Amino acid sequence: MLIKDWLESGKAEYGNAPDFLRLDLEVILVKVLGVKDRSFLALHQDDNLSDEQIKLADRLARERFINEKPLAYVLSEKEFYGRRFYVDSRVLIPRPETEEIIDAVKSVASSSMRILDVGTGSGAIAITLKLENPGLEMMASDISDDALDVAKRNAKEHGADIEFAKSDLLQNIGNLPDIIVANLPYVDKGWSWTSRTLRFEPREALFAEDGGLFEIKRLFVEICEKIIKVSDDKEIYLFLELDPSQKNTLKNFIKGVNTKRGTKTVKIYDSNYILGYKIRRQR
Ligand SMILES: C[S@@+](CC[C@H](N)C(=O)[O-])C[C@H]1O[C@@H](n2cnc3c(N)ncnc32)[C@H](O)[C@@H]1O
Repeated sequence: MLIKDWLESGKAEYGNAPDFLRLDLEVILVKVLGVKDRSFLALHQDDNLSDEQIKLADRLARERFINEKPLAYVLSEKEFYGRRFYVDSRVLIPRPETEEIIDAVKSVASSSMRILDVGTGSGAIAITLKLENPGLEMMASDISDDALDVAKRNAKEHGADIEFAKSDLLQNIGNLPDIIVANLPYVDKGWSWTSRTLRFEPREALFAEDGGLFEIKRLFVEICEKIIKVSDDKEIYLFLELDPSQKNTLKNFIKGVNTKRGTKTVKIYDSNYILGYKIRRQR
């Protein structure tokens, strides 16, 4: 079968699928052929596909169109900040909105700083930061062994030297790093759009109690508790991803924690899904 015939038959078979989904047929073929991008298909539409290639492409198309599996899981990869990361259903698919956390951290990070990525999932944030600035001392943690397996695989594939730890937030983390980055679960189960779109991803990577802020609030308290225990005037940067609708609630929560724990928190970054803070003890 020729490339153009496979694409045509796919379009006929999944004809009711929306246009953006039909584009995925081409992306599936790009993956099966192991070529760089879709431009190859236009130039080689009369090339023959082998039986093996047709079988694999058919299987992937069925997963995408019949089962409606996210394309990233069908292809076992997702691009993040210009690099490809291995993903499977054990980890959240890295989102475009999370890429902004990289720029936010880059705006304050200098070589030799210690950075911890809490809830690393696929490792996309930690690995990207390390590759963008190899001088950084990078640690990454997750509560999930499965996620850590995927993150380690990605670190190896990208040649990124990262220290991994299994930890519930900061429980197994020793000294406070200079910067903490966290894209923890923040989806409230009640949000109406969540049920269908997110059904393939691990629930523990997505949902949190307390309006979605349970883990983020816990992390903030743990940081403050650690900061007041260290004797010097340690300052720490914290960069978080959350839903814009949660910002006000978090702001009030932070105020309360500062008063109770004797910490001071200054907001240094606020854009879309990303917030950045500088935290220290009150002087
Ligand atoms: C929203 S996913 C983010 C994954 C990745 N950082 C990213 O941006 O694509 C949240 C991750 O936090 C992890 N997680 C959830 N609760 C945690 C906890 N209490 N301590 C550490 N990691 C946690 C989940 O296993 C999941 O991998």
